[in-house]
Amino acid sequence: MGVKQLDQVNSLVIVGAQWGDEGKGKVIDFLSSKADLVVRFQGGDNAGHTVVYGANVFKLHHVPSGILNPETLCLLGNGMVINPLVLVRELDELEKRGIDTSNLRISAKAHLIMAYHQALDEANEVMLAEKKIGTTGRGIGPAYADKVLRRGIRAGELVDFGSFGERLNEVLPLHNRILKDIYGHPGFNLKEMNALYRPALNRLGPLVTDTTRLLAEKMAEGKKILFEGAQGALLDIDHGTYPYVTSSSTVAAAAASGTGLGPAGVTRVLGVLKAYTTRVGEGPFPTEDLAEAGDQLRERGSEFGTTTGRSRRCGWFDAVIARYAARINGLTGLAVTKLDVLSGMEVINLAVKYSCNGREIEYFPERIRDLSQCEPVYRTFPGWDEDLSMVRCYEDLPEAAKHFLEALEDSVGVKIDLISIGPDRSQTIVCKNSQIEIWSNCRQE
Ligand code: IMP
Repeated sequence: MGVKQLDQVNSLVIVGAQWGDEGKGKVIDFLSSKADLVVRFQGGDNAGHTVVYGANVFKLHHVPSGILNPETLCLLGNGMVINPLVLVRELDELEKRGIDTSNLRISAKAHLIMAYHQALDEANEVMLAEKKIGTTGRGIGPAYADKVLRRGIRAGELVDFGSFGERLNEVLPLHNRILKDIYGHPGFNLKEMNALYRPALNRLGPLVTDTTRLLAEKMAEGKKILFEGAQGALLDIDHGTYPYVTSSSTVAAAAASGTGLGPAGVTRVLGVLKAYTTRVGEGPFPTEDLAEAGDQLRERGSEFGTTTGRSRRCGWFDAVIARYAARINGLTGLAVTKLDVLSGMEVINLAVKYSCNGREIEYFPERIRDLSQCEPVYRTFPGWDEDLSMVRCYEDLPEAAKHFLEALEDSVGVKIDLISIGPDRSQTIVCKNSQIEIWSNCRQE
């Protein structure tokens, strides 16, 4: 195998640069027609990507959006947690609608989310009462906790019913004890659990692969690889608004550890952010608008969760968090989504800094207590009334929209590569001299 030069690495990592739900699914779907591989590296079915293609709406949880392209190989990396029962349902649903899912591979080292993880997640939220995290209830936290406590079940066990049963027999009694003694839950029966998971083993076992080796081979062949992040920078277990975060590392560096790729493979990072901000679940949110503007954004942007159906908290674009996301991810470009949702707003606000206990700060505070006391300092822009859904090139955007985007780019300090002005693949503007031109069919002259 020849020696690979860094400038020959054809990879792009796509991450959320806010609190998740930034429209990553749409961006990845748009770019994946040119990708040979699409790889997920963290999270599980807490993610929910809606991809709209013509009259078809696909809601994906584990499976990368690249599955809709028959030529693209899709990998679920070792950094993920996977609910086998949900994944089987997802694959069946795709197959039923004529999508070939045979190009999916699952890392043997990914961890399984089991029924007891979901029960623990739900019971824990009930116990936390008003201090709850507002999780998606998918068992993500308990599954990652088991991984770290070295009592998880890995996807590699899906290939052999005997070893799956043995491992379940080892770990189930402890979970049952916790469920019964702490949460008053009846627990799970070993025989019933084996029967419940058997069909999933039959279906998913053949897809389990050494994805780290497969990825290294494809990279050496110069294949184009997209890494699909889930959730967003502010939900990262280390850098997010802890404890109101998810349980995985959501930043670009996780694309290396969550797939077995060396860090030098992560050279270009596209941060996806909405032209405003949303958040689901609890925790501080400085630019949240609890008045009319927040309601307008929710209604126009259909801001309801793909996974839970919960209504999302809405507010203005926050350049402080975007700058922070740019720093902790090493963003090399931005994708700004849902610009069309701002059409018809009389004025548009953009937070450039915070006022915190009488002091103005431009950085994101480390302590959640400090963040809770921050008030946004806004720059206000005139809105526009034009419908943007048919715009296909930057120059055709209304002057007021361009003015807002220029200010956004300036305040974040990272170039905008792509603008999304509607849910459909075609409703996408690729900006001039963008790092993603090789990934898209459109080239702006
Ligand atoms: P968990 O990931 O289900 O444990 O939830 C922890 C926090 O992350 C909660 O505030 C969830 O609402 C949030 N969260 C998890 N996944 C997503 C996502 O895909 N989009 C937006 N928020 C998410």
